[in-house]
Amino acid sequence: MAEYDYDVLVIGAGPGGYVAAIRAAQLGLKTACAESRETLGGTCLNVGCIPSKALLHGSELFEEAEDGHLAKWGIKASGVELDLTQMMAEKSKAVGELTGGIEFLFKKNKVDWKKGHATFQDAHTVKVGDETVTAKDIVIATGSSVTPLPNVEVDNEKLRIVDSTGALKLEEVPEHLVVIGGGVIGLELGSVWRRLGAKVTVIEFLDQLLPGMDGDIRKEAGKIFKKQGMELKLKTKVTGAKVDGDKVMLTAEPADGGDEETIEASHVLVAIGRRPNTENLGLDAIGLELNKRSQIETDHDFRTAVDGVWAIGDVIPGPMLAHKAEDEGIAVAENIAGQTGIVNHAIIPSVVYTMPEMAGVGLTEEEAKEAGHTLKIGKFPMMANSRAKTNRDTDGFVKVIADAETDRVLGVHIITSLAGTMIAQAAQAMEFGTTSEDIAYTCHAHPTHSEAIKEAAMAVQGKPIHA
Ligand code: FAD
Ligand code: NAI
Repeated sequence: MAEYDYDVLVIGAGPGGYVAAIRAAQLGLKTACAESRETLGGTCLNVGCIPSKALLHGSELFEEAEDGHLAKWGIKASGVELDLTQMMAEKSKAVGELTGGIEFLFKKNKVDWKKGHATFQDAHTVKVGDETVTAKDIVIATGSSVTPLPNVEVDNEKLRIVDSTGALKLEEVPEHLVVIGGGVIGLELGSVWRRLGAKVTVIEFLDQLLPGMDGDIRKEAGKIFKKQGMELKLKTKVTGAKVDGDKVMLTAEPADGGDEETIEASHVLVAIGRRPNTENLGLDAIGLELNKRSQIETDHDFRTAVDGVWAIGDVIPGPMLAHKAEDEGIAVAENIAGQTGIVNHAIIPSVVYTMPEMAGVGLTEEEAKEAGHTLKIGKFPMMANSRAKTNRDTDGFVKVIADAETDRVLGVHIITSLAGTMIAQAAQAMEFGTTSEDIAYTCHAHPTHSEAIKEAAMAVQGKPIHA
């Protein structure tokens, strides 16, 4: 009889966990995956990436039809109305198809889904609901949840003060949505509700939006969101919020101290970050300690300090992104199978899916300077890109940061409608150790937004043609 029930047990079926489980099974390992949610796919598929992108798409179509964007092309749409129930139904359909797709892939690859909450008994034994499951190797992929804000109580059932999960299922368009936190979630979901007709105020603690992104992107983002009609209150912290009938009364004060003000909202979205899911997992039973940010530390192979226990995704340090979790999922399975699974954490693109999109990969200008590089920077405005101009879509720029001595590209940062798709080219080139000259001499199809990457690289070299 085998010593363990499974070769591999993965805890959590988000983009990290489900990918790890499928890859482990593909490599011939007997695999199970424990998931406490009703459906597979984790935060990303159920209440994250997928439903938010569905609403971003739907709300963008609505705004285009309703707000005169189509009219300038001579397309007259009259009587445009929002059917929010239908928009939400279409979102749910996309979510259902994708989560169902993971269930299909589990069956196809013979991954057993253990339904229920998992807790460690020892390093090779986990209790899932009433069942005890043993495995030679166990991967923790439990993800993250919303960071709470003191004195601001989220209630995703009453839907007045919500987190991202509530903001994805509001039943009416808010009259005035106050978003606490000018990060990725605040700006994406704030954009959804603004496009559908809400007045949106974003309250951000820092002096700029989108911490972690390149300084030029952050500055431009502020201008763009203001132009789109979002009210931005920077350097401000919310001290409390109370529901009063169909209103919410917030109190806020300047981040560095000063007089308190009161703000009235119809709805409030709390989006001040996420924290790793490491509680109620029985980590004490295996003697696994957490770092100061409650994350699980691993080595490059995703091994934790406990033999046979591995960790990936939002629960370990690094950006909380689905594609980072997925790549770690593949790598950890390969390492468990005795292969060499590697993730290059220096080249993980990040994208904000607003309109225009904002994307970056590699070092920001600030990080590159801090690391001691002398820089050559090339910038190219979308205003000078022929396709963007043709499409009347000229907001944004491409910025290529290269090392002045070696010409090696250290970072690429883009604002434009297609930035999320364009950043893949930069990531791949950087994986191959590209110089700005390599990009400048690569033929790019015309007319495309991507030509702006070539021209920004030409700007590093000396001069672009079109600006
Ligand atoms: P998760 O997806 O969080 O999955 C972990 C799973 O483990 C969960 O399903 C949970 O139920 C389960 N679990 C936890 N503990 C246990 C236990 N003890 N037993 C059994 N099961 C357990 N990232 C992007 O890259 N692009 C985006 O566009 C994007 N949009 C987002 C939008 C929103 C609104 C949010 C909230 C997040 C978004 N993210 C996005 C982030 C992305 O969702 C996460 O980075 C990603 O889901 C992390 O994957 P994971 O596998 O580590 O964890
Ligand atoms: P975030 O870390 O991106 O932004 C939180 C913002 O809240 C920061 O700007 C911070 O300064 C601010 N803040 C913190 N406390 C505050 C306070 N008391 N008052 C006012 N402002 C305050 O976190 P967010 O937006 O909640 O997203 C969580 C994670 O989800 C992100 O780290 C991201 O990785 C992931 N995500 C990714 C997406 C994507 O890839 N497109 C989309 C949505 C989420």
